[in-house]
Amino acid sequence: MKTIIEPFRIKVVEPIRLSTREERKSLLAEANYNPFMLESEDVIIDLLTDSGTSAMSAAQWSAIMQGDESYAGSPSYQRFKKAVKDLLPFEHVIPTHQGRAAEHILFSLISGEGKHIPSNTHFDTTRSNIEESGATAHDLVIPEGLDPADLHPFKGNMDTDRLREFLAIHGSETPCIMLTITNNAGGGQPVSMANIAAVSELAKEFDIPLYIDGCRFAENAFFIKLREAEYQNWTVPDIVHKMFSYADGMTMSAKKDAFANIGGWLAVNDAQLAERARTRLIQIEGFPTYGGLAGRDLEAIAQGLKEIVDENYLTYRLRTTAYIVEKLQALAIPVVQPAGGHAVFVDARAWLPHIPPLEYPGQSVVCSLYEMGGIRACEIGTVMFGRQPDGSEQAAPMDLVRLAFPRRVYTQSHADYIVEVFTELSAEKEGMRGLRITKEPAALRHFTSRFERL
Ligand code: F0G
Repeated sequence: MKTIIEPFRIKVVEPIRLSTREERKSLLAEANYNPFMLESEDVIIDLLTDSGTSAMSAAQWSAIMQGDESYAGSPSYQRFKKAVKDLLPFEHVIPTHQGRAAEHILFSLISGEGKHIPSNTHFDTTRSNIEESGATAHDLVIPEGLDPADLHPFKGNMDTDRLREFLAIHGSETPCIMLTITNNAGGGQPVSMANIAAVSELAKEFDIPLYIDGCRFAENAFFIKLREAEYQNWTVPDIVHKMFSYADGMTMSAKKDAFANIGGWLAVNDAQLAERARTRLIQIEGFPTYGGLAGRDLEAIAQGLKEIVDENYLTYRLRTTAYIVEKLQALAIPVVQPAGGHAVFVDARAWLPHIPPLEYPGQSVVCSLYEMGGIRACEIGTVMFGRQPDGSEQAAPMDLVRLAFPRRVYTQSHADYIVEVFTELSAEKEGMRGLRITKEPAALRHFTSRFERL
């Protein structure tokens, strides 16, 4: 059969409240044109993030009842640790309440004033944790990764020539090299096995540890299976294992590719670093056998990790984004190609050339999507990345709008509805206006800034 169906049945449902365009217009104004400020009950299709929004399976809910809430030595931790180690070849697994806590612990130990940390593209919390420690974060993705229309199969790859030049200059001040897989901020694009190997080789040459931000590791592994000929007959767990065998450690948000609503971990091979991390963990998260989590959360993650590497699930997962990208292209809406794993990225700068980057074309699309169809999406562009450490403002490399898909939550008719909303917006796009910021915080401004339409 050619139709790729959702490989699950629905056992529990959550009603969606349908609203009118008039209603949404005033709700958006009340939220100061920042959809992060909307009540989720006022949203029809919530594509703000794929993080923590997955539908859990019956097996996960059932595992939750096995959660042992002991302060120390819980069997839930043992099951969590085994599930992580079955997939990922790391010695020490330190549970945290989410990915950014793992980043915070890692960078509070290895980063600091005067240091430099390169990545293909740091995600916003990673960058912020690095900068808070006094270090500088650098993005060295391949040039194709910055061209939304380029069809390179692994647009998340690190530019290894630039990395070599970078290390020749900053090597002695580089406590680690990071690789984000898939490359969320750059369009959910995968990193190839060959690139992971090449980065690892450079890391070894300069004697610098390599850490992988592995939030969407299963999607990345499946892209490798589909696009890197050598791996077409490999199982997904074997590909995952090989990807991480090149690294010295990883940070992880279990809210993505572990189907959990909360959770994360820091995994390392270095025993001394692990000990320091556990001490820090006790200070800010909790005892090393639960981190910042309840025993039941550890159980949900352990079961989720078994489900995430299922090829039928991953086939459906990658088809969701590819399906919408095909339909948007047919409407002549510029999108990041090829389709990424967890999200569809609309190139707002190219779609709305009448709105200059410093008037936030991405935010304009985000607002219109909500008004027109009650769809909540997220700007990944000049609002998110435009503010410089010295307080000035610059256009980000791209102005994208991310439609991120919660795992196992929406169906094909939801996808068709999203396409219909874009069809209607296309007809009105000349009238879409830019915005200006009327109030912004000192960091991570996209979450809480207030806007006004120009
Ligand atoms: N790294 C990447 C690549 C991420 O996408 C995220 C979160 C994190 C780290 C931090 O993990 O949320 O568990 O603390 N990304 C979410 C998103 C928030 O919407 O893309 P966390």
